[in-house]
Amino acid sequence: MNILVTGGTGFIGSHTLVELYQAGHRAVVVDNLCNSSQQVLGRVERLLGLAEGEIPFYEVDICDEQGLERMLERHSVDACIHFAGLKAVGESVEKPWLYYSNNIGGTLTLLKVMERHGCKNMVFSSSATVYGEAAAMPLVEDCPKGQCTNPYGWTKSMIEQVLTDVQRADAEWNIVLLRYFNPVGAHPSGLIGENPRGVPNNLMPYITQVAAGQRRELCIFGSDYPTPDGTGVRDYIHVCDLALSHIAALGAVARRCGLEVYNIGTGKGYSVLEMVQTFERVNGVKVPYRIGERRAGDVAECWCDPSKARRELGWQAKLGLEDMVRDSWHWQQSCGMP
Ligand code: NAD
Ligand code: UD1
Repeated sequence: MNILVTGGTGFIGSHTLVELYQAGHRAVVVDNLCNSSQQVLGRVERLLGLAEGEIPFYEVDICDEQGLERMLERHSVDACIHFAGLKAVGESVEKPWLYYSNNIGGTLTLLKVMERHGCKNMVFSSSATVYGEAAAMPLVEDCPKGQCTNPYGWTKSMIEQVLTDVQRADAEWNIVLLRYFNPVGAHPSGLIGENPRGVPNNLMPYITQVAAGQRRELCIFGSDYPTPDGTGVRDYIHVCDLALSHIAALGAVARRCGLEVYNIGTGKGYSVLEMVQTFERVNGVKVPYRIGERRAGDVAECWCDPSKARRELGWQAKLGLEDMVRDSWHWQQSCGMP
């Protein structure tokens, strides 16, 4: 299939491009580069043994209807994997309008242009954040959605609703909502990975920067949660496994699935302390830390039952925590290289 990939130069998008081409698909990439660089595409091409510039790229904002229109006039696409969006939780609290307009407004414009070109197939990047503070673990897809603690989370929840209503109104649409748990790791080649700007919000990039000596110590946000060691528990998933879930989701779209929702995680929860200890053991480096206050908006634990994706998509995560911490560290050490 020929796939429109919005946000394709970003962290998850770039890893998905690799898996798409390896599975025999092709892609057209749209990104406004607000949180990524076009160099990433050159690295993806190098990794795949493609010629430079072989993957068509448009520096276009998904809110720009004319820009999307011009791109789809030149390329006929079978489906869209829609990654483009802003994702910094703290920034979304300070700039809610920006988040609602970019994430929701951009998705509405994208849907309009896709529909005009007869492409009614989409895989959307949603998040575990739509569950809010759930009563019990593991999370299954039919758990009710909850109260999000920030505007970023609400954009995901609202876009899910928009897409559900669009598909309900027109059964020609096939839409897969993938609720990602905590993506970490990087491609084992060391050529692509996550490049957070400024101080990282998320645990893994913070750990790697402390291990590299760029930051003094990790602050563990709370050790008094009702979890085995008191620190927060999450379902971390290797980004290469996550990327493969999109290929599986395209299969569902091709089988005319209507609207489906899948949890994309490993089904195993690890605490912050387990993450630090595994990182130190596997990579042979120290990660100095101190225990701090809980972070506002955090939940004690968040992990899923991913068995619906296994049953219906034939997808399941294969990589474990050791792969995640090894590849994260490898990327940290090689990301400055040309
Ligand atoms: P990322 O920031 O690395 O990638 C997103 C890409 O979208 C960037 O390249 C950015 O430049 C682009 N973009 C943003 N707004 C755009 C716009 N208006 N027009 C065109 N391009 C635009 O983030 P990521 O980690 O790869 O996340 C991809 C998607 O998955 C996002 O929608 C994110 O919310 C979602 N998600 C991510 C996580 C995570 O932890 N990384 C978890 C759950 C869901
Ligand atoms: C965060 C976002 C969530 C988003 C997800 C994407 C918040 C409140 N939530 O979730 O909306 O979908 O990222 O991956 O920001 N931790 C520390 N010290 C740190 C950083 C994190 O102890 O410096 C702890 C956290 O308290 C948590 C765990 O590490 O227990 C994971 O944190 P993080 O990587 O930020 O992910 P989430 O909190 O799950």
